[in-house]
Amino acid sequence: MPEVCLLAIESSCDETSAAILSDGQILSNIIYTQTVHEKYGGVIPESASRLHIRHILPVVEEAFLQSGMHKTQLHAVAYTQSPGLIGSLLVGATFAKSFAQALTIPTIAVNHMHAHVLSNLIEEPRPDFPFLCLTVSGGHTQIVLCRSPLDMEILGETIDDAAGEAFDKSAKMLGLPYPGGPLVDRYAQSGDPMRFQFAKPRIEGLNFSFSGVKTSILYFLQAEKAKNDHFITENINDLCAGIQHTIVTILMEKLVKACKETGIRNVCIAGGVSANSGLRKGLQHYADRYGWKAFIPKFEYCTDNAAMIAMTGYYKYLKGEFSELNLGASARSL
Ligand code: KG4
Ligand code: ZN
Repeated sequence: MPEVCLLAIESSCDETSAAILSDGQILSNIIYTQTVHEKYGGVIPESASRLHIRHILPVVEEAFLQSGMHKTQLHAVAYTQSPGLIGSLLVGATFAKSFAQALTIPTIAVNHMHAHVLSNLIEEPRPDFPFLCLTVSGGHTQIVLCRSPLDMEILGETIDDAAGEAFDKSAKMLGLPYPGGPLVDRYAQSGDPMRFQFAKPRIEGLNFSFSGVKTSILYFLQAEKAKNDHFITENINDLCAGIQHTIVTILMEKLVKACKETGIRNVCIAGGVSANSGLRKGLQHYADRYGWKAFIPKFEYCTDNAAMIAMTGYYKYLKGEFSELNLGASARSL
């Protein structure tokens, strides 16, 4: 019998996910991705909530099936409590509380951003503490100093768009479908990153801003399209390479600054944008240059997933950090 067996639920945006953890090991991690939003060019909150309701039970059943565990073996249920789309969060939170109540076991509320950072602890190689984590996804951009599993400090975050949003909105301007980040990455592979340069923000400290880049790309494209109707299609590779280079440079400059200021050399990346080939190369480049130890979790643990919620829930369980049943879900980080 495991000493700690948890069910974890993630439903903060457009992924319905359930994971089973036993004594710190992830036994299953089932993710249902809602693809319906693609045709609207972004996540429709009302549809997302409804789809979570439809998929949460089959996803949880599959998680139990793959893990070989039974609900009677659970010690607690962890769930994403904040931040995210409120309707989506409510589905996962309500399910988790009801399931736990029926089994008379406690719930553990987990912060989604905290969990992204701890996705680095799911599998070997794991970073030693303290480490820095750059969390980059469609909804978030943060540099976090992690001293221990439950002791974290946000050193910097975006003041407007997230890095993934910057990729997706730039892609949209190029006429690419949502989510455009992976497509920008693909076209950029055979482009010249130096041919088109875009304005980088001057933000003090470790915060990020991407709205200026977006505007710079928009005005540039408008001016070029006025001269040549086919400008984008004729230059798609170089445009994508230039956009990617700009976004990655903004991210890496702040990460390097954070490493210098803290003296920390264990550096992690988490979130969906960590799939970006330019960012991966950038991380490796600076790791070689400054002697960092660099870590990127498996892609399955980078995008939204319940395994990272289970991992965070596990550390909270060990410390006895349980939640009240009347704790509400919250769109913003508490
Ligand atoms: O973590 P994630 O799956 O979902 C959340 O937003 O929480 O991240 C999705 C984001 C999207 O903006 C997507 O365009 C971006 O990650 N993304 C990429 C790449 N793969 C995913 N952006 C740039 N290059 C990629 N290869
Ligand atoms: Zn996320």
